[in-house]
Amino acid sequence: MIGKLTTNRPGETGVETMRIQGATALVSGANRGLGQVMARILLQRGAQRVYGGARDPGSVVEPGVTPVRLDISDPVQWPRQPRRAPT
Ligand SMILES: NC(=O)c1ccc[n+]([C@@H]2O[C@H](COP(=O)([O-])OP(=O)(O)OC[C@H]3O[C@@H](n4cnc5c(N)ncnc54)[C@H](OP(=O)(O)O)[C@@H]3O)[C@@H](O)[C@H]2O)c1
Repeated sequence: MIGKLTTNRPGETGVETMRIQGATALVSGANRGLGQVMARILLQRGAQRVYGGARDPGSVVEPGVTPVRLDISDPVQWPRQPRRAPT
């Protein structure tokens, strides 16, 4: 399945596509709000694995989402996440 994303970058008015089926995704703020909904939708649309980033990984409760500790304000954590994420 192909997901559609609208873009609002300056000078762009079209629609971009993103392949979700079989993809691996990392969603920050996946413990609530839009992040939780985004993680849920990615799984519904066929993502193979969805990592749910949160400052408190215990707060990631969406079924099927793999919790990972991620505080996006800490520059040390972000680049290490893909390597440290459980498989
Ligand atoms: N809701 C809307 O209709 C809407 C519309 C347009 C734009 N937005 C924007 O989209 C974003 C999310 O909206 P929302 O409604 O989902 O907000 P929300 O319910 O308040 O959720 C915010 C999320 O961000 C996480 N977060 C905050 N600081 C973080 C950090 N340093 N590291 C990692 N995670 C952090 C929170 O985790 P904790 O639980 O740990 O705090 C929470 O999961 C916001 O920037 C909002 O302004 C929202």
